[in-house]
Amino acid sequence: MLEDTSFAIHPGKKNTVGDTHFHDIGNLVEAVEQQESYHFQCEQGVVSVRFYRKDIVRITMDPEGNPQENNDSRAVTTSPGKVSVGLKEEEAFLTLETEAMKVRINKQPFRITVLDHQSNVISAEDERGMGFQHSGEVIAHKKMDAADRFYGFGEKSGFLDKRGEKYTMWNTDVYAPHNPETDPLYESIPYFMVLNQGRAHGVFFDNTYKTTFDMKSEETHYSFSAEGGQLDYYLFVGPTPKDVLEQYTFITGRMPIPPKWAIGYHQSRYSYETEEEVRGLAKTFKEKGIPVDVIYLDIHYMDEYRVFTFDKERFPNPEGMVEDLKNQGIRIVPIVDPGVKKDSEYKIYQEGVREDHFCKYIEGDTYYGEVWPGISAFPDFTDEKSRKWWGDKHSFYTDLGIEGIWNDMNEPAVFNESKTMDPAVMHRNDGNPKTHRALHNIYGYMMGKATYEGMKEKLDGKRPFLLTRAGYAGVQRYASVWTGDNRSFWEHLQMSLPMVMNLGLSGVAFTGPDVGGFAHDTNGELLTRWTQVGAFTPYFRNHSAIGTLYQEPWQFGEKYEAIMKDFIQLRYKWMPQLYSLFQQASEKGLPVMRPLLMEYPDDPKTYQLNDQFMVGDNVVIAPILAPGITDRAVYLPEGEWVDYFSGKVLEGKRAHLVHAEIDELPIFVRKGTVLAHGNVVDSMVQTQEEITLHVFADTKGSYNFHFYDDDGETFRHEEGNCLTFTLELNYSEENVFIRTCEKHNNLGSYSHVNVEFHGLEEQKVVVNDQEVEFTGSEKRFELEI
Ligand code: GLC
Repeated sequence: MLEDTSFAIHPGKKNTVGDTHFHDIGNLVEAVEQQESYHFQCEQGVVSVRFYRKDIVRITMDPEGNPQENNDSRAVTTSPGKVSVGLKEEEAFLTLETEAMKVRINKQPFRITVLDHQSNVISAEDERGMGFQHSGEVIAHKKMDAADRFYGFGEKSGFLDKRGEKYTMWNTDVYAPHNPETDPLYESIPYFMVLNQGRAHGVFFDNTYKTTFDMKSEETHYSFSAEGGQLDYYLFVGPTPKDVLEQYTFITGRMPIPPKWAIGYHQSRYSYETEEEVRGLAKTFKEKGIPVDVIYLDIHYMDEYRVFTFDKERFPNPEGMVEDLKNQGIRIVPIVDPGVKKDSEYKIYQEGVREDHFCKYIEGDTYYGEVWPGISAFPDFTDEKSRKWWGDKHSFYTDLGIEGIWNDMNEPAVFNESKTMDPAVMHRNDGNPKTHRALHNIYGYMMGKATYEGMKEKLDGKRPFLLTRAGYAGVQRYASVWTGDNRSFWEHLQMSLPMVMNLGLSGVAFTGPDVGGFAHDTNGELLTRWTQVGAFTPYFRNHSAIGTLYQEPWQFGEKYEAIMKDFIQLRYKWMPQLYSLFQQASEKGLPVMRPLLMEYPDDPKTYQLNDQFMVGDNVVIAPILAPGITDRAVYLPEGEWVDYFSGKVLEGKRAHLVHAEIDELPIFVRKGTVLAHGNVVDSMVQTQEEITLHVFADTKGSYNFHFYDDDGETFRHEEGNCLTFTLELNYSEENVFIRTCEKHNNLGSYSHVNVEFHGLEEQKVVVNDQEVEFTGSEKRFELEI
């Protein structure tokens, strides 16, 4: 406790931050080519270099002996492909070269420099390279150029650019306020992207021990290190931020297309405590005409917090409740934590003990820790048998008609000093036992895998939705991520923007914070401004904590309610656009919500833009993020930008002062581009029958718009049951040429979409070689697809 007072900075206390000495890998002794990978025996260990693609190289160092390349990694989904590599030997160097990159090895001492195919240095080591300590720590030192900017690192507080920061990856439950220096948080994504004057590369340090990334201690070097395991990292050569993300997600996988209902508006509370309350809540949404797709059940639905149970008094008829709500278009998503209550009369606990599913010490004693249900045991999700068991248990929920699950406390959180499981606990790890110290960072991720796969199997062709708090690199394959226990502070609304953008840059496209703030009391203005942002974050859930003010959209009077309703409806209007972007996330790994630097990496003004973001490649959103403010600056990059609401055209490559009353959100669409809108619906159970492509016409340039749609709930799109086309637009002073390409319509829902022009000059519109005759004043026509 004293540590929370000024005692923490008592002059008698020593500063423990300092240099730790690492042994250098030493000189190269021998180089051997071994089945398409290159092994370098150095004086103090072995380094292997293996190309996964011409633009992706994996570098592994093991001070103990030959690096393990067999990849028992839980994050990596691919094996190395066939890459043609040239080997050139000079006196001082060895160079491995692909079409996209060169890996140049200095022999004495052993140092790696990665260059692009034009021989520009991308990443370099100098007096310090790879090192280790006999106690097991491993480290990589890299030169840091004055122009290097750092992004990614998954879920971190603070600003967008992480240069000057030092981060730890160790999944941690943090209820204390998330400050800029609060680290670590719930997710560990040991991945980052470096941007240097428009040129990007990425590094994924695939190590599940506690890892540290230090861009702070020195001006000229950065490092990444781990408490144990191998130094095992992938380097992605870019050259654009989008290329880097495509490369990283090629290695760690991409998200499945979510069910449409999962990208609607979600309402949560810790907790809606009774069936009556949940039904009442649904009714209020309907009465007020506010769209909603999901209501969450937090821990109070359970019988004394026993997972896979319902409290029969509070929720006498869960099946009826789920069904009735589904008939109204609302899905129920219950929380499922990993802790299983130690109770010899509780079936799940009995089974877990009898069938040996819980984490144990090496001596055979079960590990127990305290969480919501009291003393609990923790399933060993690193083991296939227990994953299957856990996955199967979810028929308890699917039998009730439930299609989504919320995994929480899966760091795992334990109510003790260390906040988690004893690092000495063993995990079976599918036949390769390791301690919790080694596998802590993937515990929640493996729970997500067990849950997602179990749900997928039980749902028999329907897409499951999973929300998780903890995760590791690759979490996007199973779950969407919310950013944990934030607070109803304007500062937390501000911080959520760079946090979600950096998660997006880390391969996790489906994320968002608790809208309105979880802890602390929100207020009408904050909730309204946050809902405006939420309408455009990939994951959109209002959630609040026990003991705080209720924060449903109507809790702060009619004025705010009407505004929030408008913005929730706007979310639904934008659904076809968002859904097409989610499909791109699933196909290419690109985030839905993006920092401007992703689209404009050559523009230094975008490198530290924390308070505005992009949705896809053509929309800039500049929300109001402080109380009482109705004016703010927005930086619009190169090009011309159309104010979405007023139609006013603004010049790019400069800042503008924009005005936004409490009912306004500044949105700008790049001239020449397209937005797909649908009609407003109460929930995504209804089909949006009317799709309109809004073309923000230009007089020069071109744009390709990719539209995607499918049934929104099954996996039938994997067999081609979807609607997809690219709209190619070419502008001149005289004409707008439109072509529909790469068409594929096997969906059958509709054969036409509307096209509506905004800002069209006296140009002729020619669609697939046919001139369009507009009838009436609206510049609108039906496009056959
Ligand atoms: C944790 C979660 C929060 C949840 C609460 C009760 O604090 O982060 O979202 O409401 O537990 O389950």
